[in-house]
Amino acid sequence: MSDRMNATPNDMRAFWMPFTANRQFKKEPRLFVASQDMHYTTHDGRTVLDGTAGLWCVNAGHCRPKITEAIRQQAGELDYAPAFQLGHPKAFELANRLIDIAPEGMEHVLYTNSGSESVETALKVALAYQRVKGQGSRTRLIGRERGYHGVNFGGISVGGIVANRKMFGTLLTGVDHMPHTHNLSKNAFSRGLPEHGADLASELERIVTLHDASTIAAVIVEPVAGSTGVLLPPKGYLQKLREICTKHGILLIFDEVITGFGRLGTPFAAQYFDVKPDIITTAKGLTNGVIPMGAVFVTAEIHDAFMNGPEHMIEFFHGYTYSGNPIACAAALGTLDTYKEEGLLTRASELASYWEDALHSLKDCPHVIDIRNVGLIGAIELEPIAGEPTKRAFSAFLKAYEKGLLIRTTGDIIALSPPLIITKAQIDELFTKLRDVLMHNI
Ligand SMILES: Cc1ncc(COP(=O)(O)O)c(C=O)c1O
Repeated sequence: MSDRMNATPNDMRAFWMPFTANRQFKKEPRLFVASQDMHYTTHDGRTVLDGTAGLWCVNAGHCRPKITEAIRQQAGELDYAPAFQLGHPKAFELANRLIDIAPEGMEHVLYTNSGSESVETALKVALAYQRVKGQGSRTRLIGRERGYHGVNFGGISVGGIVANRKMFGTLLTGVDHMPHTHNLSKNAFSRGLPEHGADLASELERIVTLHDASTIAAVIVEPVAGSTGVLLPPKGYLQKLREICTKHGILLIFDEVITGFGRLGTPFAAQYFDVKPDIITTAKGLTNGVIPMGAVFVTAEIHDAFMNGPEHMIEFFHGYTYSGNPIACAAALGTLDTYKEEGLLTRASELASYWEDALHSLKDCPHVIDIRNVGLIGAIELEPIAGEPTKRAFSAFLKAYEKGLLIRTTGDIIALSPPLIITKAQIDELFTKLRDVLMHNI
């Protein structure tokens, strides 16, 4: 361990880091050199409690033996198999295992390498599905303000985060957005799902009236919007979206890249909300974040619509070199085994009320203007410093890191999503540390 300490590279120029304040980081680097279960070890030898499951992905905690061993074994047995016109057994085994835990009706899986690719794949499946069904005029895609669907062109087009969109031209055409559901004046400090705002789903009706249903292929939403600061669906909102989509023959895509694999206390958010989408996108928790991999779930109706024409013909012209990569599949199987053995896909439901109480105990801290929660997700919204948006939360992030706690911030919102193995004692520790941060001059 000790030779990993003080391992700060002496030249950090070459790596242009993603979604990072590069100049600030390189002046004061924050490097992790080891991890185990709920903790990271920093390059200067400190232990950091993981309040964010890495980036919402390490749901089973760090360096779990089944996953590590599965990868080790697979790497020595079959390292790579071509993904097109050839296969390997674990890709099929994994798809079946995934279908077993997926919401009823999800019967087929396409593999990707990230959440962003899952989103692109889902949008393309939706457009192509409408076309193979003889409804080629359905080309529009509807997203939502403040939605995050990764960073590729389809995802930022249906996404609704200005900073992620404004630099990149006109994006996909034929996209419209529903309003977001975040309403501090009515819903601040709600415990669980907010009471007000289900009627915002009827904005979809307005959009359908504007463009006509015959031009709309799909609606995509995160059941719980994570990256934009944990925006919860008001009670009844997702059900209403489903009704409107069904009425107009529009596909409903749930982007479950963060909510998939137990975050809310059910395997998928669709089960938590009891709403059946037509397509579900996932990544992150699929392999516990260890190997890049995503999966897109579709219904039999969607899949079967493509199974036409001569049998020697490719049915869907899409896929990646690494779709269903053997090592990624092995990692995912090891992850699913770990989730199953430790009951992790439902553990958030056991911890949710303890988590909620602990989180809301921060209500009296300075600058806190909202606290919200669902499953093992929490958010604390801070009042921005006048004229310096994001600075207060970023400073809380830096202070928390110094005190041995990893939090995530977006805008002036602190988002929390610990590994699902967290204990009650560690929940207490997390919020004690966070209180200490919030109480001291941020
Ligand atoms: C809802 C959602 N969709 C898509 C993505 C993109 O995933 P990735 O970073 O793996 O491309 C994310 C990432 O946070 C996400 O939260």
